[in-house]
Amino acid sequence: MIKAVKDYIRTIKDFPHEGVLFRDVTTLFADPRGFRMAVDQLLSPYAGLDIDKVAGLEARGFILGGAVAHQLSTGFVPVRKKGKLPGRTISQAYTLEYAEAEIEVHDDAFHPGEKVLLVDDLLATGGTAEAGIKLIERLGAQVVGCAFVVDLPDLGGRAKLEAMGMQVHALCAFEGL
Ligand code: PRP
Ligand code: MG
Repeated sequence: MIKAVKDYIRTIKDFPHEGVLFRDVTTLFADPRGFRMAVDQLLSPYAGLDIDKVAGLEARGFILGGAVAHQLSTGFVPVRKKGKLPGRTISQAYTLEYAEAEIEVHDDAFHPGEKVLLVDDLLATGGTAEAGIKLIERLGAQVVGCAFVVDLPDLGGRAKLEAMGMQVHALCAFEGL
């Protein structure tokens, strides 16, 4: 059998807490064929488009986004958890399952008119991606697409991002919670 991207993703029960099926992409990243396939498929809708920067969401979005940026010959911007970036930042709050969180970019990371591709490993509620999009847009840049390896459609992230007018690209989906 020829394996697809989804077949390289490991599911771990009851992590980070009971009742959760954790979709673990480390097994995809660790496989040479799997990782290349994931990166190639993530960037394929955007090859040949005029994109200035890839924005990767901490933490797994850094691994994918860096590889995508290299392949598209764009710059790479890390969207980081609060308190990690050394320069002047703008920050955006979002809601996690049980808590509030905040992500940041340097205030000169994006410029008006720039075209940006947002990359992360997984789309669940869409809260993290939405906050990332807001940061990019607050600096005047335009998000031309949002690319994920995994979509969890039952958590509503894709619908939320599409309602914002975003183009969402996901390599596979896991139904159910
Ligand atoms: C996970 C995942 C996405 C986000 C998706 O990251 O890697 O970034 O959650 O959830 P959402 O669509 O409901 O916002 P997490 O917050 O666990 O942090 P990490 O990537 O740094 O481990
Ligand atoms: Mg993450």
